[in-house]
Amino acid sequence: MGVSERLHSLRAEIERYDHEYYVLDAPSIADADYDRLFRELQALEAEHPELVSRDSPTQRVGGAPLAEFAAVTHATAMLSLNNAFADDEVAAFDRRVREGLATDGEVDYSAEPKFDGLAVGLSYAKGILVCGATRGDGSTGENVTANLRTLRSVPLRLRASDWPAALEVRGEVLMWRSDFERLNARQREKGEKEFVNPRNAAAGGLRQLDPRITAQRPLRFFAYGIASGERAGLPATHSAQLDQLERWGFPVARERRRVTGLAGLLAYYADMGSRRASLPYDIDGVVYKLDDLAAQERLGFLSRAPRFAVAHKFPAEEAVTELLDISIQVGRTGALTPVARLAPVFVGGVTVNNATLHNEDEIRRKNVRIGDVVVVRRAGDVIPEVVRVVPDRRPAGAREFVMPTSCPVCGSRVVRSADEAVARCSGGLYCPAQRKQALLHFASRRALDIEGLGDKLVEQLVDSAIVRTPGDLYRLGLLALASLERMADKSAGNLLAAIERSKRTTLARFIFALGIRNVGEATARELARHFGSLDRLLAADEDSLRQVPDVGPTVAQSIRQFCSEPHNLEVIEQLRAAGLVWSEGEPAVPAGGVFAGQVFVLTGTLPSLTREAAKAMIEAAGGKVSGSVSKKTSFVVAGAEAGSKLERALQLGVQVIDEGQLLGLLEQTMGPSTP
Ligand code: IVH
Repeated sequence: MGVSERLHSLRAEIERYDHEYYVLDAPSIADADYDRLFRELQALEAEHPELVSRDSPTQRVGGAPLAEFAAVTHATAMLSLNNAFADDEVAAFDRRVREGLATDGEVDYSAEPKFDGLAVGLSYAKGILVCGATRGDGSTGENVTANLRTLRSVPLRLRASDWPAALEVRGEVLMWRSDFERLNARQREKGEKEFVNPRNAAAGGLRQLDPRITAQRPLRFFAYGIASGERAGLPATHSAQLDQLERWGFPVARERRRVTGLAGLLAYYADMGSRRASLPYDIDGVVYKLDDLAAQERLGFLSRAPRFAVAHKFPAEEAVTELLDISIQVGRTGALTPVARLAPVFVGGVTVNNATLHNEDEIRRKNVRIGDVVVVRRAGDVIPEVVRVVPDRRPAGAREFVMPTSCPVCGSRVVRSADEAVARCSGGLYCPAQRKQALLHFASRRALDIEGLGDKLVEQLVDSAIVRTPGDLYRLGLLALASLERMADKSAGNLLAAIERSKRTTLARFIFALGIRNVGEATARELARHFGSLDRLLAADEDSLRQVPDVGPTVAQSIRQFCSEPHNLEVIEQLRAAGLVWSEGEPAVPAGGVFAGQVFVLTGTLPSLTREAAKAMIEAAGGKVSGSVSKKTSFVVAGAEAGSKLERALQLGVQVIDEGQLLGLLEQTMGPSTP
């Protein structure tokens, strides 16, 4: 046999074994023998690179990692399905279908498992795989062809020859449960993070920029439909098309059935429900599709979902286990969530050790005690939750849960406002659980506007314990910054400059930057205007806070709670000590203000205030700032190197004051102008 013949026969043999293994689930060759054939093919192709073809089984992995995925516009949109949960919703679906088709008789449906994976589209040109894409937003997805080629259940070349020249096949990428367990065992051995469930592992595997990594993830594909291509010559029903896809070499769910009428649908649902656990992969329901494709077309779509199909979802899985303890998790926003520590239990496809109890009220409502036997539920990707207790099985020593009064992470006081079920840590600026969030907010554009201090950097700074609170930012040096990974000297320098610049700010920005709960930008401005100084704000009681426009009881309470937490005051002190200064927000002067009707002219460089700051303060007090001196000018505020404007003021006999005097005038009504 010549080289070329041997290559062809090896490829055909390997393709056949792949098909037997991945599509028919009936391997007829031992792994070792398969590997031997594969190695022979590889060796032969290495000797004759000119004879390597793109659809050779050895070419499933190839090419370099991508920088990013290219976008793919779907020729036919990838839509979603409407859900039905209860039988009467399915009955309503069947009724709508029959009404839409104006038929009295029962209709035939194709009933299939609803795979719990990721939708992809595979495009074939003349029987060769040319493109594979994720769903994306339904109209545009990501080009993951190189990754999909690594799935041995995805045919690189279609079998038979009666396919249209252009064909797009839709289906689901998923991971079998057994493969998932093995993958996680491997992760454990390597000391790497385990995957949560097969779906997440599949999603992560498919979205790798390096196809060699995807190739190591045991992903599988199931076809569930034909999206586009020449219709002529294709079967006229969905179920016949699925059979056709199978002949062309695609894996198609063996559990599919053609059923008739509502009774047929519900019987299929019951049957699949009972077989669900013994399937090799996760399903989260079943899908019913009107079988007649011409009839499908007549029914059409309603917004983003077809009228001719529906997903009948399984109820979330439940299991019974023991509640060993209740611990507290502090979230990024300071919310304290009670979490049930459970005796491990297998539910919804994963082993669950923890489940959320949501909040204190929920614990009371469900009457949950530590030591109880509880029912836990898990659906899809949602966090498992404790549904209810099994009262008959409550042990004698079951204990009631008490919400802690201080934060388990930072020790700050725990507070709960009257209108909220959630208890929160009041150590906003100080609490490690809230640190990253607090820093990002502090540095954000509308707060202190520290350019360059984004997500990644905050992550690094906090994780390496260089920065704990916003005050630490002002102690950062080049050395500490340059020690961070991927931080060039230049960007370190830029960041330090941005931090330095942020020291001059406004009171409103500063208040906003503190991240007080319920205090947004507008409220911060009102507070700055009303109180005029930080000290007054810090000292204000709830009644005086409520004098401020837009400040109701909730906001007033949040501010009080923040200002009475010593940890927060400590951070504010650090910031003041670091040299943060601000000009006043607009002070609470009655309409007109103390400077009402007065015209100011600024000239020269003032020792501490910028032009803008001085102008803002004067205007806030009702005064006007003009660019030129005239007889109408009330005051000229003169700084260093004042020139012609000062001379003119002296000529006209206009009163000349310095920065100190200006601040003195303002202070009479608004309190001190710097912290
Ligand atoms: S047909 C126009 N069939 O469910 C509807 N979808 O909510 C086309 N899915 O993103 C979808 N198993 O990923 C169809 N047998 C099946 C399915 C299935 C799982 C997923 C699919 C889609 C989602 C729709």
